[in-house]
Parts: sequence; structure tokens; C-alpha cells
Amino acid sequence: MREGFIGGTAGEADYWASLDDLELYEKTFAQRIAWKWDAVIGELELRKWSPSASRVVDAGCGSGVAGRKFLEQWRELVSEVVLLDRSPLARSYAAKALLAHQVDVRDGGSALSKELVADATVLVSHVVTELSPGQLSEWVESVSGARSLIWVEAATHDASRRLVEFVREPLLKAGWSAVAPCTHSSRCPMRTAENERHWCHHFARVPSFVHQDPAWKELSSAVGVDLRVLPYSFLVMEKSSPEAVSRSAEDAAAGAGAESSPIGARGLCRVIGAPREFKGYLKVLRCDEAGVEEVVLQKRDVPAAFKDLSRGEGVPVYRFREESGKVLDAKRFSEAGDA
Ligand SMILES: C[S@@+](CC[C@H](N)C(=O)[O-])C[C@H]1O[C@@H](n2cnc3c(N)ncnc32)[C@H](O)[C@@H]1O
Repeated sequence: MREGFIGGTAGEADYWASLDDLELYEKTFAQRIAWKWDAVIGELELRKWSPSASRVVDAGCGSGVAGRKFLEQWRELVSEVVLLDRSPLARSYAAKALLAHQVDVRDGGSALSKELVADATVLVSHVVTELSPGQLSEWVESVSGARSLIWVEAATHDASRRLVEFVREPLLKAGWSAVAPCTHSSRCPMRTAENERHWCHHFARVPSFVHQDPAWKELSSAVGVDLRVLPYSFLVMEKSSPEAVSRSAEDAAAGAGAESSPIGARGLCRVIGAPREFKGYLKVLRCDEAGVEEVVLQKRDVPAAFKDLSRGEGVPVYRFREESGKVLDAKRFSEAGDA
């Protein structure tokens, strides 16, 4: 199965042959995916974002980890979870696994549609490489009828680029706003030719027990999973309120540019990927509305940010004061009076 996921052939046919397959997946790969969801939900908490819809659609649900993680965080806001997957076995496994949450569960069948997602929050997790270009564009067209979207993927260049190119940008055109990881809702600056080699990705925490656990060790050597790191890419977007849409139309008419997200107005940036560490300084790739650029962060100038970034602690959203590519002051999102 992992060969199919990595080699990009998993999309060709339904690969769930039995409930045992799903059980094994749930105990292994789905756990790692759950930790990525923890990171994403943690960031949404920091940004004080919560879903406005009470219906949730888990599209390509597999064993159902995305829906369960969502419920762990926002159970009281949810009235119904719709499970959609081309595999009836997966839908049935995911439905059983939701029993403990005592929530209404609906079998959403195998096809995403605007009707199914109307006014819902759509969750998609680790599906993007299994959809053909045509299917992906149909999914995004359907999602545009929803209210919000949380989409989590592996951190490969390809998966991350597909999220930007075929999900983020079309939804922006449909009047949606970016919630995370972006600090603005303008065109993604990764899309320029000079940024072709970069891709938007982040690192989640692997719980410490995993490093002492013989079963995880065995899995790691059997299928070649590096347990020390957990990179991921993701995208959270929501349909802009009618007021925000008319405001940005007015701004555009007044020549104020495409800037629309309130977070963007605050001059925040996000650090992408892992910093490159040198003696006494880091080189970090920072992304904001103005562009993607590698900047230098010296320990003596910004000791707290140096420590957090080199240890990979916290959500790397900052307000930097820069001069000639050097960060002279770095305020974390929560410290900057923005949270
Ligand atoms: C790698 S699994 C991910 C499962 C789950 N979302 C997770 O994060 O653990 C991808 C899932 O997408 C489903 N899938 C793939 N292509 C699909 C399609 N065209 N329509 C519906 N489901 C699809 C597969 O059956 C599988 O359950």
C-alpha cells in the first residue's frame, strides 16, 4: 500500500481489500496523519479560528482519522459527519470508529458534489495524489459550494504544489479566503519561476513515546518511515462573508490591491520548512504577501526566535523587522498582539 502511496499509483483502483487492511492502516499511517492534524488544529486554535458550519464532510475518509480529529476539537459544534470514500469498506470502518463520538453519521457514498457539501466544512486528508487532474478540479468545484475546507497532505513538492495550484488559487478566484498556513489571501508567492524549487511545508511533533516503542521501530525499518520527522503540507480556507467580498471588490476598485485577509493586514509572515542552521545564525525561508525570501536570523539579534525556530517549537508565524535580508526583530504571532 505504501508503495502505491509513494509511487503515485494508489489512485488507480480501490486498494482496501478488507477491514483488516483498514485496521492496520489505522494503527500505523493514520496515527502519523493524526499527529499532523493535531498540528493543524493547534495552529487554528492559535489563530482563533473555528468552523462556522455544523455539518462536516470527510472526503476520502479512509479509516476516518480526519473526522475524528475534528470532533476531538469541535464536537460541540458538530451535528453530523458525512463520510465519503470510493471504498464502501472504508466508509463502514470509519463509521464504526465514530461511534464513540455519539454523533450522527451519514454515508456520503463515493462522489463529492456541491449538494453534499453545501454549508459544510470539508475535510480532505492524504487524497490529492490519488485524484486525477480532472477529479481534483471536480472536487474543488464541489468544495466551492461548502463553507470551509481543511486539507492536509504529505509534504512532498508535488502534493504541496497541487494544493496551491489546484485548490488554493481556484478557491481564491471563487471568492474564498486563506486562513492558514498563509498570512494573506493574495496570489501565492511560491508560484513565481524563481521559487519553483521551494514548496510550502511544515513539521509536526512526533510524540516522544514513539521513539521508545518497539512496534514503531519495527514499522520504521519494515517500511522505511523516518520516525524523527513528520513533515506535512496543508491548507485551510473559508468562503468569504458577503461583506468581505464586497469590501475587497471596493478595495480593488480603489486600487488597494488584492490584500483582503485581516491577518494579512498585520504584516505577518510564516517561516516555511526547516531553517538551515549555521554557527550563531539561521537561514529561514519566510513567506508573506510580498514574496518568498531567505532571510538571516542571528542568535544575538533575536535569541527567542532563534531558539524556537531551531527547535521547531510553536507555530512559526511572526512579524519580522528586516534590514537588507537580516531579521532585526521578531515577534511571534501571539506576542505581537495579534491573537
Ligand atoms: C491515503 S487514504 C487517506 C485516508 C484518510 N483521509 C487519511 O488521511 O488517513 C486515501 C483515501 O481516499 C480514497 N479515494 C481515493 N480516490 C478517491 C476518489 N476518486 N473518490 C473518493 N475517494 C477516493 C481512498 O479510497 C482512500 O480511502
